[in-house]
Amino acid sequence: MFYLTRMEIGDMERQYLNDCLERSDFSETGVYIQRCKDWIKDRYHTEHLIMTASASQALELAAALLPLETGDEIIFSSYSFPSSVNPFILRGCTPVLAEIDNSGCLDLNLIKKITTKKVRTVVVTHYAGWNETIEEMSLFCRENGIYLIEDNALGFLSNRNGRYLGTFGDLGILSFQSTKPVSCGEGGAILINNPSLWDKARILCSNGTTRILHKESPEIPYTWVQPGFNCTFSHLEAALLFGQMQHADEDIKRRRCLVELYKSRLFGIGMKSMDFPEGWNASMFFVQTPDRESGETCRAYLNRQGIQALAHYGSLRESPLGKAMKYYGNGESKVFDDCLVRLPLYAGLAKEHVNNICNEVEKAFCGI
Ligand SMILES: Cc1ncc(COP(=O)(O)O)c(C=O)c1O
Repeated sequence: MFYLTRMEIGDMERQYLNDCLERSDFSETGVYIQRCKDWIKDRYHTEHLIMTASASQALELAAALLPLETGDEIIFSSYSFPSSVNPFILRGCTPVLAEIDNSGCLDLNLIKKITTKKVRTVVVTHYAGWNETIEEMSLFCRENGIYLIEDNALGFLSNRNGRYLGTFGDLGILSFQSTKPVSCGEGGAILINNPSLWDKARILCSNGTTRILHKESPEIPYTWVQPGFNCTFSHLEAALLFGQMQHADEDIKRRRCLVELYKSRLFGIGMKSMDFPEGWNASMFFVQTPDRESGETCRAYLNRQGIQALAHYGSLRESPLGKAMKYYGNGESKVFDDCLVRLPLYAGLAKEHVNNICNEVEKAFCGI
């Protein structure tokens, strides 16, 4: 079976994991958590970052960080993972579902039309790890006094002319969960780009205490100041992640090269996908079929051939919870998802395998 993704485990991962075991250090102050943090800080040119147990945990932290009140509206994409918005609903905010443009990301023109004074936050999901309108979205939110959270779970290391996705909003979310291209099983991070939120973030993530602040500045007393939580990243997983980081750039090049091969084979027979520019992390590859029936037929055929081929999130609007929410759009995320066929992509996939997969996609597509 060719799965959509597969983690590449190299020598560095084994070495760092062994080192972690030998140190017998599984604490949150372990060196590998610090090394992962430093690696990201260096790349992203940021000082303010917290490693977390998952992107979902980072989003929990984000929702607790912002000064939101019951009834404040929060706009999010109908094409995303539920954890983009769960924490805000749990805090009493009113979710507003909005539709996507043809790249799978929140439609900026729609957001401009539907934003009212009640909207306090926009959560933008960078579908497939890319977003063409992030600069403009960020400007729009700033001009209207709205917090912007980038759910960049799929876009680790994607950058627009050197500026990384996740650094445009007040907060940026990263995921290192097992299906992500740089992974350690479960893990995440939050980039605190709005410096006014930094101290509060460090208090919240240490169970609402001043522990971290006290460590840095002993004159600050160590005490409990507000409700908070523990969203600590595991040291063992950090060792694995630090190993993954060592070949992350090479892996992106390799995946991009496989994407080019997919495109050259499949565009030739009239299939469509998206054109991602330089800077994209090549987190996934997909083709888009003309309609729902052909999407279903194509995915079912490929799965029978031992090639994992899936749509993605489904439309949140179509979910039992989503149906009851305030909604703007015309079902775009349903159509997007119905026609999506994600295909295997990971650095260890051989070109020969991509060619074999393309042969089967061709049979599926031509039989449609
Ligand atoms: C857009 C988006 N946000 C959040 C998440 C949750 O990530 P995690 O599994 O690290 O909690 C995912 C997971 O795939 C996702 O796609």
